[in-house]
Amino acid sequence: MSKLRSEIESDYGAVRQVHVRAFGGYTEADLVDRLRGSPGSISLVATEANGMAGHILFTPARVEGNPVRVAGLGPMAVSPSRQRSGIGSALVLRGLEECRRAGYQAVVVVGHAEYYPRFGFQRGSNFGLWCQFDVPDEVFMAIELQPGALSGGGELQYAREFSEV
Ligand SMILES: CC(C)(COP(=O)(O)OP(=O)(O)OC[C@H]1O[C@@H](n2cnc3c(N)ncnc32)[C@H](O)[C@@H]1OP(=O)(O)O)[C@@H](O)C(=O)NCCC(=O)NCCS
Repeated sequence: MSKLRSEIESDYGAVRQVHVRAFGGYTEADLVDRLRGSPGSISLVATEANGMAGHILFTPARVEGNPVRVAGLGPMAVSPSRQRSGIGSALVLRGLEECRRAGYQAVVVVGHAEYYPRFGFQRGSNFGLWCQFDVPDEVFMAIELQPGALSGGGELQYAREFSEV
């Protein structure tokens, strides 16, 4: 049984290891280290008796020419030995709740096209939204936390640190 809570400083090393193991490399772990602590970010961990099981990060993004308050989901990772046991889903659902509470009106993600729709994410293109990065249509997804929030559409720009990957 895992427990969800906000990340604290003493988690940083273990969270880094979860990303390294889940992604099989350092790119996402390094990105998390760069993004951490940026104003408006939401960082949640799933812990278990034997250690860190998962992590999810949301950082403020923006839609060019549109004042909507939008958060970018990611990176997120669950320790390989603990995948497919509901931890990722719990982190996404709690994260969306925290984003809503923090006043975000929408959340975007670049990720697995088969995974995020179960939480209500749709293709960004359904909202007239496109990603600043050149990614396939089906992997750039969005969810409105406030109905109609994304109706203006536009280009989604992630926090600057994403461009340094
Ligand atoms: C993607 C990830 C975060 C999901 O976490 P999780 O705890 O395993 O997910 P859950 O247990 O909540 O959900 C399991 C479901 O997700 C599906 N799923 C897991 N990884 C998936 C993937 N890469 N693509 C599509 N579906 C995936 C499983 O098939 C399962 O579906 P089912 O419920 O229909 O059987 C985790 O697998 C992970 O860390 N993967 C490596 C890193 C990564 O890809 N991060 C996300 C980048 S967008």
